[in-house]
Amino acid sequence: MQTAAGSTVGRLVIQLARHLGIRTINVVRRRGAVEEIKAFGGDEVICTEDEDLLQRVTEIAGPAGVRKATDCVAGHVGAQVSQALAPGGELVVYGALSTHRQTDPAALTIPLLARSVIYETKVVRGFWLNRWFGTASPTDALRALSEVRGLVADEVLSIPQGKPFPLERFAEAISFAETPAHGAKPLLVFEDDRDKGEE
Ligand SMILES: NC(=O)c1ccc[n+]([C@@H]2O[C@H](COP(=O)([O-])OP(=O)(O)OC[C@H]3O[C@@H](n4cnc5c(N)ncnc54)[C@H](OP(=O)(O)O)[C@@H]3O)[C@@H](O)[C@H]2O)c1
Repeated sequence: MQTAAGSTVGRLVIQLARHLGIRTINVVRRRGAVEEIKAFGGDEVICTEDEDLLQRVTEIAGPAGVRKATDCVAGHVGAQVSQALAPGGELVVYGALSTHRQTDPAALTIPLLARSVIYETKVVRGFWLNRWFGTASPTDALRALSEVRGLVADEVLSIPQGKPFPLERFAEAISFAETPAHGAKPLLVFEDDRDKGEE
């Protein structure tokens, strides 16, 4: 199961999961994204605008539950994902979209249900790519990069087209990235790259 399934990362997860034969439960916040994610290859889609996340996971996954989940929303949604995990399940938190522009410390958390984490021995851990690159051995990092490159070359993974912004319009690019349903990711274009027609 993953949250913000329509994100660039989420779409890569869907493609990778299909390649590996793993079924996905995809959580989105807008009903407009449901058919889009199904058409993209998501097996199941839960829309938090219309549906109760926990109830839908029970309907979809049944008593076996969900063994692995990723979350980049945090807050209430991240907490619900942790509750939806099967006993012994693992949640990897790699983003906190719901906390953006929030200043209230209570809004910057993932309020885990203690008894669910303890008695069902769940694992919640973080992931940050920058730290991974800083701690992985050069051999492991190169292996991972070459594996990803191979998957792109074999068209298992497709990288969505970005929307170019000149570097001096960085503030506009950031606010575009925060706009709901923005679709393409903003790409900052350097003056030299523009001369060469590169992004
Ligand atoms: N830890 C790491 O190493 C790492 C590396 C890369 C990215 N990330 C994180 O991964 C996440 C996705 O990044 P991305 O570049 O793939 O994003 P992206 O392509 O810009 O897409 C953002 C997605 O998140 C959804 N979203 C935004 N705010 C939300 C909220 N409050 N609640 C629910 N859904 C929300 C958007 O839904 P709508 O379509 O409805 O707007 C959109 O589908 C971000 O949190 C980013 O920081 C982490």
